[in-house]
Amino acid sequence: MTKLRISIAGCGFVGLVTSASLASREFNVIGTTIIKEHVDLINKGKSPFYEKDLDEILQKAIRSNNLRVTTDNTDAVLNSDITFISVGTPMRDNKSIDLSYIDKVSQEIGQALAKKNDYHVVVDRSTVVPGTTRNLIGKNLEKYSHKKLGKDIGLCMQPEFLREGESVYDTFYPDRIIIGQYDKKSGGVVEKVWRDFYGKDLPDLVKMNIESAEMVKYANNCFLATKISFANEFANICEKVKDLDIKEVMAGIGMDKRISKKFLNAGAGYGGSCFPKDVNALKAFAESNSYNPQILSSALSVNEQQALHVVDLVRDKLNILKDKKISILGLSFKPGTDDMREAPSIKIVENLAKEDAKISAYDPYAEESAKRAIKADINYSKSIEECLEGSFCAIVLTEWAEFSKITPDKFKKQMKYPCVLDARRIYDKEVFSKELDFLAIGLG
Ligand code: UGA
Repeated sequence: MTKLRISIAGCGFVGLVTSASLASREFNVIGTTIIKEHVDLINKGKSPFYEKDLDEILQKAIRSNNLRVTTDNTDAVLNSDITFISVGTPMRDNKSIDLSYIDKVSQEIGQALAKKNDYHVVVDRSTVVPGTTRNLIGKNLEKYSHKKLGKDIGLCMQPEFLREGESVYDTFYPDRIIIGQYDKKSGGVVEKVWRDFYGKDLPDLVKMNIESAEMVKYANNCFLATKISFANEFANICEKVKDLDIKEVMAGIGMDKRISKKFLNAGAGYGGSCFPKDVNALKAFAESNSYNPQILSSALSVNEQQALHVVDLVRDKLNILKDKKISILGLSFKPGTDDMREAPSIKIVENLAKEDAKISAYDPYAEESAKRAIKADINYSKSIEECLEGSFCAIVLTEWAEFSKITPDKFKKQMKYPCVLDARRIYDKEVFSKELDFLAIGLG
């Protein structure tokens, strides 16, 4: 059976990874982007951003001529059977969702469909608040194509669950596929794509209505964000009581299969392009529907506080921060990426700087993006040694592997006063507590 021809609007990490993955398994894929400079780059097999394992599948996809990228959505729609939408849905200043890219791209797809005779399915993969796929995308498709949903055009919403840095792996080995369908015919077309892609390894595939699928994505991210805030709240309680350790407590509850040990690491708080944006968007959505979402509000406020709590811990230890050198180890929102979006390091560094601490920061990948994200005037070190030299306190904010290898001796040798604040719980508390002044999130 022949495979369906695919077009994917958006070449961000979800769109490009999905395009390259499908093309690497012999699907014919056309990707579109509004960023002209990215077109040539991608068509030469180079990703405009770093994502683990992407280069390899992208080069394979381009070499085999299964993938090409263009700025022209009409070309993409006319030469495919199904269009996935993977464009950004950023957070507005008032923290609600910005749907302008979704609006524009669905208008363009509608205009292209006006020129097409065959049935075509449009699938939203961008995270959108419930109702958006049907009421914005669906309406735009009908209005600009002068055709009918269900008759000439199919519509689905398939949320994605890809983690930045692991998105290639997550594409090939997802836990499940959720398809929100306008009607059975549309859902059947999307199912065929994934049946052909995974073959006998097809993961669990569940179909539901479009609005429920939109909500699955939010419920998923909000649940994980809440789990992290739950761990952070317990960490704060543990810190008040001698000998309590959040790591042991969360390891203990994580063994309960109903809870699972994942996303229970207490730390400096969650960041990134998804959790902060999605929890805020759903809170705004609930409020606009006259509901006050108390758990989401708490998850958000615990997360806001957690970064400030790191600052409090340093101040409690050093008393006066003015003119004292403080070393920041790690700036990106998580290891494996240079992404600084909503990274807790931004708030921590800026608050320490407000108190006139002299900040030196080292991150193996994120220096350039940090310079754009952090407004305070701080020193960026080129090595761990330079960052620690003459410092009063070292704070680990991102659990990069190279930081785990730093020994207490090394801290003692480089620092003026050897105080380490382990905000990601990467060090052995027995070893470090014996050797230096050791503080850690969730350690009483
Ligand atoms: C997250 C979800 O994990 C993906 O399933 C989802 O598809 C994606 O958002 C999205 O909506 O597109 P991502 O933002 O890439 O993926 O990063 P995660 O690995 O989930 O980490 C998010 C934040 O939580 C990081 O700042 C991390 O340090 C923090 N975190 C994570 C903790 O503080 N503790 C934990 O136990 C786990």
